[in-house]
Amino acid sequence: MESMKKYLIKGGKPLRGEVKVSGAKNAALPAISATLLAKGTYRLKNVPRVRDVFVMLSILEYLGAKWEFEKDILKIDTSGIFKTEVPYELAHQMRASILFLGALAGGMGEGRVPMPGGCAIGKRPVDFHLKGLSLLGAEVILDHGDLVIKAPKLKGATLILDFPSVTTTENLLMASVVSEGETVIKNAAREPEVVFLGEMLKKMGAEIKGLGEDTIYIKGKKRLKSVEIEIIPDRIEAGTFMVIPGLFEEGEIIVKNIPVHYLETPIQKLVEIGLKIEKVDKETLKIKRVGALKSTKIFTSPFPGFPTDLQPQFAVLLTQAEGISIITENLFENRFLYVFELNRMGADIKVENRTAIIRGPTSLEGSPVKATDLRAGAALVLAGLCAKNTTTIYNVELIERGYENLIDKLKNLGAEITLESKK
Ligand code: EPZ
Repeated sequence: MESMKKYLIKGGKPLRGEVKVSGAKNAALPAISATLLAKGTYRLKNVPRVRDVFVMLSILEYLGAKWEFEKDILKIDTSGIFKTEVPYELAHQMRASILFLGALAGGMGEGRVPMPGGCAIGKRPVDFHLKGLSLLGAEVILDHGDLVIKAPKLKGATLILDFPSVTTTENLLMASVVSEGETVIKNAAREPEVVFLGEMLKKMGAEIKGLGEDTIYIKGKKRLKSVEIEIIPDRIEAGTFMVIPGLFEEGEIIVKNIPVHYLETPIQKLVEIGLKIEKVDKETLKIKRVGALKSTKIFTSPFPGFPTDLQPQFAVLLTQAEGISIITENLFENRFLYVFELNRMGADIKVENRTAIIRGPTSLEGSPVKATDLRAGAALVLAGLCAKNTTTIYNVELIERGYENLIDKLKNLGAEITLESKK
């Protein structure tokens, strides 16, 4: 159903100024579910106020927890948790609700979580999650579309993932830290958000080694405790902003609170394409464009490879590069839906299976377009900033799932962008 909220962007004007990156959505979501592993009061700093976070908090509240934002600290009290069934009307809005499966198994010994549906970018199955949790001794059945897990006693095991799946690794970390004995997770995801969850669990008393590598060792503990922790900056939001200077002849912006060490591959790619990147200090970069952009090839892969969540944004940048660029999407089977919308704006992109062939440079023209998923929506915002005249983007709720204060941040860079929501 077409949403009533839309962005209007008058593009073509070079942006300049400073933007500060918020906390990482994909670190905040597992952190919120992990509060089920030990009853008590948690304080999470730097949590981005985005839709997905509020959906996750609504689920926690439904289960009996209390939460509130006190200035920029999110306080969560899980001492009152008494339910273990995640409601469909909340869970179906967000695939990350699958994180409650591992957290409920570990924290409450049982749970019922609606099977997360697929989404625009792919089927998004959860077979790896179920296989790993079963190997830890949980019994998982599918009952009328809900995943029902019983885990009165979790026992450590050696788990080998078919693919370094991010939320699978996170679910298995949350279940194994309170299992009896040792667990080894092989072919584990190495994303910074997975490492962040592991560090939070260690602060809660878990014993974990090998975070950030492909094999993680866990020694189960009987009890964990509630903690305070600061959410890491959002590398995908940072990467999205770093593309902006490349959209204009004389573009230049400063990005603050940037997790440079999580962005080595995208930064190398930006330099290859021809952007100049200057380190202002250890968390601030100045990015500018001088002269023509060069075409390149991008292959998405698990961390530390090029992140799939920046693929649509870099495709927009490559529409402004001279020559033929090739993007190969290796994680999701349907992550080029935004191409149809970009071509409406004058881009010249052909998609063959998991490959997009981009011919540039093409001048983009403002048009009505629609966001098909979170990062595709972000890409359309970038295209609107670059395009001449006005671009109208529909379905902007999808963008608000993962970008905090996006309109204000872009206005501070000089963008002409407004939100329209017809009642
Ligand atoms: C996480 O999703 C992120 N979401 C995604 O970000 C991100 O695109 C993705 O990791 C890859 O980096 C969160 O962290 C909340 P996967 P996740 O399991 O964990 C297949 C965004 O924009 N697979 O690593 O669901 C799967 O189909 C979102 O913020 C199975 O086959 O991704 C995919 O092809 C979009 N069976 C591949 O693994 C399973 O049981 C990688 O998926 C699980 C996954």
